[in-house]
Amino acid sequence: MNSYSTNSILRKGLIDWYKEYKRDLPWRHTINPYQIWISEIILQQTRIDQGLSYYERFISDFPDVASLAAAPLEKVLKDWQGLGYYSRARNLHETAKRIVSDFGGQFPDNYEQLLKLKGIGTYTAAAIASFAYKQPHAVLDGNVFRVLSRLFLIDTPIYSTKGKKEFAALAETLLDPDQPDTYNQAIMDFGALQCTPSNPGCENCPLSALCLAYKAGCTTDLPVRKITLPKQDRYFYYLVCHDSQQTWLKERTAKDIWQHLWEFPLVETEQEIAIDELLGKAEVVDWIGQSSTVHTIARFRHVLSHQIIHATFIPVSVTNITGLSGD
Ligand code: ADE
Repeated sequence: MNSYSTNSILRKGLIDWYKEYKRDLPWRHTINPYQIWISEIILQQTRIDQGLSYYERFISDFPDVASLAAAPLEKVLKDWQGLGYYSRARNLHETAKRIVSDFGGQFPDNYEQLLKLKGIGTYTAAAIASFAYKQPHAVLDGNVFRVLSRLFLIDTPIYSTKGKKEFAALAETLLDPDQPDTYNQAIMDFGALQCTPSNPGCENCPLSALCLAYKAGCTTDLPVRKITLPKQDRYFYYLVCHDSQQTWLKERTAKDIWQHLWEFPLVETEQEIAIDELLGKAEVVDWIGQSSTVHTIARFRHVLSHQIIHATFIPVSVTNITGLSGD
């Protein structure tokens, strides 16, 4: 099956599923961009069951852009009380005033103009453009990332630059250009109800036959959120040179971990090496000569965020430390 027919089957599968199982939500009965905007901002950081009563009250107190722009900020914040993330309410108020002053009270009717408004990012602009104006812009939220990463078995971290690009391109190819509104609602509801983060309903999923993650048995490993860099292994050999009085320390001057801290004279190697080989290295011979006494060594593995230090400490007795540390 080519990707064109796979996409059309997936698209149809999502929309058919939505027609049967969709939630009846008030903002789905309107194409009023103002009401859709308010609902999307409320739902950004709020669960639907909590957001519903706030949405109803907000629309009843501020039924349109003009009434929101004309209201005192305190009244807007009062309606928001309990929802948290109050910058959302401040941005709504500011943007409503801007729509009145710069757009004659007409809600912007295309994706690019919507994007220019404070508090409206790519997700919200795509939601308003598709729900209110049926413009073909695919929404990409947490639910959509999850559904796409599983259907297409994509393990690119979703918040990486590469991931955002890859998922945005895929979302656009899957979008139904004839009904972007229904398609966008469908994929979000599918993610929220069927293709859930844990215990997804794969056994009764109409898309499981085409779902690559289901076939590979790794649905709950996706999406991948974090970028995990492999840790670098570094091999540090510290020569703990001392005489009867003193121990020799050197400052770390290179632009590296622990810059400007003090340490025992260090040899770093790319791989683990034998102590005999280490003691034969020119700089070590320079430091300690050939007649020093090497004692029991100690090894430590020290894990940092991006590197693993394999440290070996080699105590070395010398007769006079002052003679050594003149470099
Ligand atoms: N979450 C964010 N926007 C939503 C919408 N329009 N319907 C359902 N859940 C949503």
